[in-house]
Amino acid sequence: MKTRLPRTIGPALFIEAAPLPKAQPFPFSANDTFTDEEHAMAQHVYIADIAQHAGEEVTLKGWLHNRSSKGKLHFLQVRDGTGVIQCVVFKGDVSEEVFHRADHLPQETSLTVTGTVREDKRSPIGFEIGVKDLEVVAEPVQEYPIGHKDHGVNFLMENRHLWIRSPRQAAILRIRHTIVKAIRDYFDDHGFTLFDAPILTPAACEGTSTLFKVPYFDLGSAYLTQSGQLYGEAGAMALGKIYVFGPTFRAEKSKTRRHLTEFWMVEPEVAYMDLNGDMDLMEDFVVTIVGKVLAKHENELKNVLERDVEVLKRIQKPFPRITYAEAIERIKATGHDIKWGDDIGGDEETILANQFDRPVLMHHFPAEMKAFYFKKDPENAGLALGCDMLAPEGYGEIIGGGERETDFEKLKKAMDENGLTEDAMGWYLDLRRYGSVPHSGFGLGIERTVSWLCGLHHVRETIPFARMMERVTP
Ligand code: 4AD
Repeated sequence: MKTRLPRTIGPALFIEAAPLPKAQPFPFSANDTFTDEEHAMAQHVYIADIAQHAGEEVTLKGWLHNRSSKGKLHFLQVRDGTGVIQCVVFKGDVSEEVFHRADHLPQETSLTVTGTVREDKRSPIGFEIGVKDLEVVAEPVQEYPIGHKDHGVNFLMENRHLWIRSPRQAAILRIRHTIVKAIRDYFDDHGFTLFDAPILTPAACEGTSTLFKVPYFDLGSAYLTQSGQLYGEAGAMALGKIYVFGPTFRAEKSKTRRHLTEFWMVEPEVAYMDLNGDMDLMEDFVVTIVGKVLAKHENELKNVLERDVEVLKRIQKPFPRITYAEAIERIKATGHDIKWGDDIGGDEETILANQFDRPVLMHHFPAEMKAFYFKKDPENAGLALGCDMLAPEGYGEIIGGGERETDFEKLKKAMDENGLTEDAMGWYLDLRRYGSVPHSGFGLGIERTVSWLCGLHHVRETIPFARMMERVTP
């Protein structure tokens, strides 16, 4: 007697979404645990692994994305979370009941399809299924709200919990996963230790204008973290090379295509690394991430997202490095009336980035433009040793970082000027009291990186449930 496990369909069983080098057996394989009768069923495979089953009879478990008919043929577009495949129901191959049913299934019916994997040159994934049988798991109880026509973005965002089922949105989320994995692998491969910073913090890290305040018991208020950096610095003094990776929060009052109020940031911090070392790390890190995304998702980028992958293939070292002063001159030369000391905003970033075919590193900013923790240029105290990376094609700043102030007195003064008290932040000054060393780091925004690599207009599509000034649901 075999123990029967519940037959789960859906995300609970999902593993790696994109094609795997070789089909990985499930830890809870249906074929190991089902009854003898069910053993006779064709093997359950994922669409991402379909190429390894050419000519075989298989079972797919998924949802009906779309369908059409032509004479004795019904074409079902079935998705299973790892991809979409056309399943062809030929009248002569199935029972009358199945043929009839296949013509009446509503969009998003959950179903299992059994059939033969056939090569098909016209298919974007190179294969289709010749259907022998299908079983309906559940028909929608009412019409699926997202049809195959154009919907306004507000409607889609309201229905984000369903919108993520569309092939395009699913592809973006798979690529986000690959970016996150590439980031973790990069730091793991380079001897960094993951260092988790708190989300509830006592004070501002990146200025007080974007703080989310939350009531905090008898202590009054706490703030949602804007960046894990300050804690990361403590980590670097303890562990040498660390990275903080987590959600960060900014009460941004800007409704732009690049701003969220909750976004994910990865922040490496390294003891004994200066600004130049920091820029080398940024460059190597970004080239590695882009390479991994291309290696795994070239097909999806081209065919689902219509992304020009040739421009991504040019993302190779070295990246151009220019000072803020040079950036201002370059922008001015285009007829813009920007002057030294002005913020380089989204539009100006685009003017600058358009002059290069790969990301550009901009460094040495006017000190007053930057946060209190930046080290000043020893040769010009008016400049901060910061560096931003601007992505090409108008995607804007994806990285901000630089070298940190190491001197106790200078840092204390900067903190006093920013209203950061010993009470809340004395611990941060301790890092300069006890064995202060040169150190640097940076923060890469995950959503802006996904937006750039996928070629998206707005960061709202880069995260499962975007949080913006005007949206906190679903
Ligand atoms: O330049 P920022 O503000 O840098 C910091 O927070 C530093 N403490 C990081 C560090 O040195 N450890 O933010 C870093 C990156 C930006 O380049 C951008 O990619 C992203 O975080 N970012 C946002 N992404 C989406 N929505 C927002 N509101 C963002 N604000 C910053």
